[in-house]
Amino acid sequence: MGIQKVGIVGFGAMGSGIAQVCAVAGFDVLVRDVEQRFVDRGNERIAASLARVVKSGKLTEAEATAARGRVKGTLALADFGDRDLIIEAVVEVLDAKKEVFGELDRVCGPATIFASNTSSLTIVEMAATTKRPDRFAGLHFFNPPVMMPLVEIVKAITTSDATIEALRDFVQRLGHTGVVCTDSTGFIVNRLLVPYLNSAVRMLELGVASAEEIDQAVKLGLRHPMGPLELIDYTGVDINYHVANVFFEEFKDPTMAPPPLLRRMMLAGHLGVKTGKGFYEYDEKGKRKT
Ligand code: CAA
Repeated sequence: MGIQKVGIVGFGAMGSGIAQVCAVAGFDVLVRDVEQRFVDRGNERIAASLARVVKSGKLTEAEATAARGRVKGTLALADFGDRDLIIEAVVEVLDAKKEVFGELDRVCGPATIFASNTSSLTIVEMAATTKRPDRFAGLHFFNPPVMMPLVEIVKAITTSDATIEALRDFVQRLGHTGVVCTDSTGFIVNRLLVPYLNSAVRMLELGVASAEEIDQAVKLGLRHPMGPLELIDYTGVDINYHVANVFFEEFKDPTMAPPPLLRRMMLAGHLGVKTGKGFYEYDEKGKRKT
């Protein structure tokens, strides 16, 4: 039978995207957030994204309606007792994640697999606080999960081979591609991405080229769908700053350290698409103005 019922903790951009991918693949999905307005916003995100997928002709209206019907929202982790797999996608704060897993550990039976969608924290640090460190792994999706086909399946030193196999099977059933890696900070993609994004910000600080020229160069010269500064705006200046700090703490490698401009933008509230201003300006629908 394998995994049938999925629980997702956190109904933000990542949680709602992961919920949508699971629901489209036919899983029964329960998503928890701490306030009803966040649950409502998550449901609206899924509805809007499914409408785009239908418009693209990749799903029929009936398939999208069925997928929406498979996602339920809740405010209570106590409702997660019947879940086979729980994916945590709350803020990147270790104590917040530990608190979630502590409560889930009391609510869920021993067979439930726990996974964190963290992009920067160490999996074993969360796993070790639960009674199931062998059934605990990283499951790292990329933003937006609906469009990005990769999932990093992260094997902590405590994770069993059976857990990794169950997660490989799950990711395959999502129609995504899983790559297995160890619990090394940044896993594969962010370990490469963070120094690259930092370098782009430093080039801007040094006046090597304008933001527009840096992004154009990468899009046309490397065929990336977004330039590095556009990508920081898209994923969030605050998140990139935070992740770079965690990486620098771990590796003490100056290429990982967040550039001063990123910190200043964060302090100013210039967080990218979500606040309407980052390296570029955006309207309320997130469309580029400048
Ligand atoms: N839901 C549904 N459909 C979506 C969508 C969403 N959230 N976002 C885009 N689409 C669809 C659009 O409807 C459109 O469909 P059609 O072509 O059929 O019309 C298609 O995708 C293309 O979208 P756009 O024309 O709006 O823009 P685009 O071509 O630039 O694609 C993108 C958007 C997929 C986000 C693309 O720009 C991209 O791949 N960008 C790079 C994203 C990336 O690198 N993500 C990783 C970030 S790092 C990370 O996540 C790790 C971490 O830990 C921080």
